[in-house]
Amino acid sequence: MHILSIETSCDETAISIIKTAGSAESPRFEVLGNALYSQAKTHAEYGGVFPALAKREHARNMVPLLKMALEVAYKNGLPHTPAKDVDEPLLIKTLEREGDMASEFVEFVKSGTVPLVDAIAVTSGPGLEPALWVGINTARALNLAWNIPVVPVNHMEGHIMSVLIDNETMSMDVQFPALALLISGGHTELVEIKNWHDYTVLGRTRDDAVGEAFDKVARLLGLPYPGGPHVSKLAAEYRKKNGERMFDLPRPMITSKDFDFSFSGIKTSVLYTLKKLTDITPLSDEQKSAMACEFENAVTEVLVAKTARALDETGAQTLIIGGGVVANTYIRAQFEKLISSRFPHVSLRVPSFDLSTDNSIMIAVAGYFQVMKGLPNTDIVANGNLSL
Ligand code: KG4
Ligand code: ZN
Repeated sequence: MHILSIETSCDETAISIIKTAGSAESPRFEVLGNALYSQAKTHAEYGGVFPALAKREHARNMVPLLKMALEVAYKNGLPHTPAKDVDEPLLIKTLEREGDMASEFVEFVKSGTVPLVDAIAVTSGPGLEPALWVGINTARALNLAWNIPVVPVNHMEGHIMSVLIDNETMSMDVQFPALALLISGGHTELVEIKNWHDYTVLGRTRDDAVGEAFDKVARLLGLPYPGGPHVSKLAAEYRKKNGERMFDLPRPMITSKDFDFSFSGIKTSVLYTLKKLTDITPLSDEQKSAMACEFENAVTEVLVAKTARALDETGAQTLIIGGGVVANTYIRAQFEKLISSRFPHVSLRVPSFDLSTDNSIMIAVAGYFQVMKGLPNTDIVANGNLSL
C-alpha cells in the first residue's frame, strides 16, 4: 500500500509518501518521499505561532512541497499515470479560502502526473484550526483531482506512531498494553494503549504543556522561539561543568495520586525569581544557565515520577514517548535510566530526533492504520481540540 500524507496542524508544512510492506499485523514502512518546511523563523518575532500567519504560510508552501515530495517518490519507484482532465471551477471553489494557492494547485494537477497512492492521510486535529483547514482542503482537492480516498489522522496518534519508524524502515515491536507519554508544544498527556485505536487518556496537563513551559521560560531568559532547544543547551552546559544549584523551583503535582500535570507554577516561579534578581543587577550568564538547568530538572523529575506510577499501575509492556519535547536529550536519558533501573521488562520506544518534532511521516503511518480500520463515510472537518 502507498499513502500520501499532509501535516499542517501548527507551524510545519509537510508532505510524505510512504510504502508499506510485510503483513497487516506486522507492517514495515519505507519512506519514498518527504518534504518539510518549518515556519519557526517566521513566527520567532512574535514569540510564538501566529495562526493567521501559519495559515498563509501553509498555503504558500503547499504546492511546492507536494511537487518536491512526489518528485523524490517517483525516483524511488512510486507508480504514477499521466494527469487526467480536472474540473477546474470545482477545485478553485474547494480551495477558495486558501488564497493564491488555488490557481497554482490547478496548474499542478493539470500538468503533473497522478501518483498511484491508495489513500491521502491528513491531520484533522488537534491544532490551529485555520492551519488544519489548509491541509484538509488540499486533501479534498486532491481527492477531486485524482479520485483517491482521504482519511483523517489525529496528530497525537501520529506522535504515538512516530516510534514505529526506524531510519526509513519500520519494525513494529510495540507490545500491548503500552503507555504513551506525549510531550509537545500543545500537549502533555499520559495515555494507556490497549491496542492501536484503543486509547484511554489517564491524565493531562491542567494548564501549560511541557513544550509551552520550555518556550515561556526561554522567553523569560531572553532566548529565541522555539525555546526548548535553547533552554536545554544552556542546561546541558551548566550540568557539564557541575555548576552549583542556585535556585529551587517547585515540582508541581509530583506526589498527587492522579496522572495530571501542571507546569504554569514552575514558569511563574521562574518569573518571580528572575524579577527579584534583576531588581538588583542584570542576570549573569551563569545565573541564566543555572535557571535553565533547574527548570529542566524540575520538569523532568515530574514527568519521570508520574510516568513511573502509570507504568506500575497499568502494567504496560512498552513505554512510548512522543512529541517535540522528546527531542530533549536530557529527558531521553532520564527515561532510559528509569527503565533500566526500575522497569527492565518494559521496552522504551522513542522516535528518532527528526521524527520527534512535527512531521508528516508519522501522519502517513497513522493514516495506514486508519485505512486498515476502514475509510470514513463522512466529510472531514478540522477540530482544534480533537482528543485521542
Ligand atoms: O510536537 P511539536 O513539534 O509541535 C507540537 O505539536 O506542539 O513540539 C514543539 C515543542 C516546542 O514547544 C519546542 O520548544 C519543544 O517541542 N522542543 C523542545 C526541544 N525541541 C523541541 N523542548 C525541550 N527540549 C528540546 N530539545
Ligand atoms: Zn506535534
